[in-house]
Amino acid sequence: MNTPHMFRGSPVLLLLLLLSGVRIDGYRPVIIVHGILDGPKQFRTMSHYITKVHPGTEVSVIDLYDDLDSLSPLWNQVQDYSKAFDSIVQKAPDGVHLLCFSQGGLICRALLSMTPHHNVHTFVSLSSPQAGQYGDTDYLWIFPSLKKEMFRICYNAMGHNLSICDYWNDPHHRSCYLRNNNFLPILNGERPHIDMKAWRENFLRIKKLVLIGGPDDGVITPWQSSQFGFYDSNENIVEMRKQEFYKSDTFGLKALEDRGDVAVCVHSGVKHVQWHSNHTVFTSCIEKWLT
Ligand SMILES: *[C@@H]1O[C@H](CO)[C@@H](O)[C@H](O)[C@H]1NC(C)=O
Ligand SMILES: *[C@@H]1O[C@H](CO)[C@@H](O)[C@H](O)[C@H]1NC(C)=O
Repeated sequence: MNTPHMFRGSPVLLLLLLLSGVRIDGYRPVIIVHGILDGPKQFRTMSHYITKVHPGTEVSVIDLYDDLDSLSPLWNQVQDYSKAFDSIVQKAPDGVHLLCFSQGGLICRALLSMTPHHNVHTFVSLSSPQAGQYGDTDYLWIFPSLKKEMFRICYNAMGHNLSICDYWNDPHHRSCYLRNNNFLPILNGERPHIDMKAWRENFLRIKKLVLIGGPDDGVITPWQSSQFGFYDSNENIVEMRKQEFYKSDTFGLKALEDRGDVAVCVHSGVKHVQWHSNHTVFTSCIEKWLT
């Protein structure tokens, strides 16, 4: 009997593997949260890309608030997504990755902020209006050519019933936004609230934040919102590091970056609905983080 055979399938080998930190059960599960007016169907290509390069990965596209239901208020959605999320992570002691598209990126950020002791490793924010939305687009009929008037709908009681109002950020009506938008200013800590410190700590449990977006998106406006940039009152872009929520680090973004854990990936030539199906985007911005 020679030595290597002695270790085959033996508890000693298993112990060595465990001690060396190698996960013997493969890749961490990936949870996908879809965007506005879409659903699991739109993420078949992405799921296929993932399992092709990382065989055996368990990919779950949460099947909630699909299509028109995605217009429901975001806090309601967050509540239900939270239950689905919890039931998946309970079965994943080594942690999971979150890949969230468009509006889904805000749902995910809320989940990460509100869930104590979560075990999310990488949070991929795929063309998500992280700093808000202010723009007309031809793809979404629900953003008619009304951007100058949307604040009237969004920043009052009626607006609390429509998901897009939860991240509608009109740079010409900043005080209304801060006062009457009950979602994004809370998430950003732009309107102080009692849970801010805890939410920041929870958010900071992630190991990596990956921000993906680009100038030909056509829906996210300004497209820099996908990287936490946004308009000032003259509609000039203020980049992430000059944003007040960054400078005062209200929700952990600056701390994450100081830690070296914010990765930014900008691609031109990608329209909004193509981000999750573009193979170049997958190989250059996503694949390496999903281990
Ligand atoms: C919001 O929607 C609920 C039903 O989901 C409805 O009862 C309520 O009247 C709506 N509120 C406004 C201000 O539109
Ligand atoms: C895919 O991404 C590449 C590089 O980012 C871009 O040049 C190309 O136009 C995209 N293709 C589609 C169909 O989105």
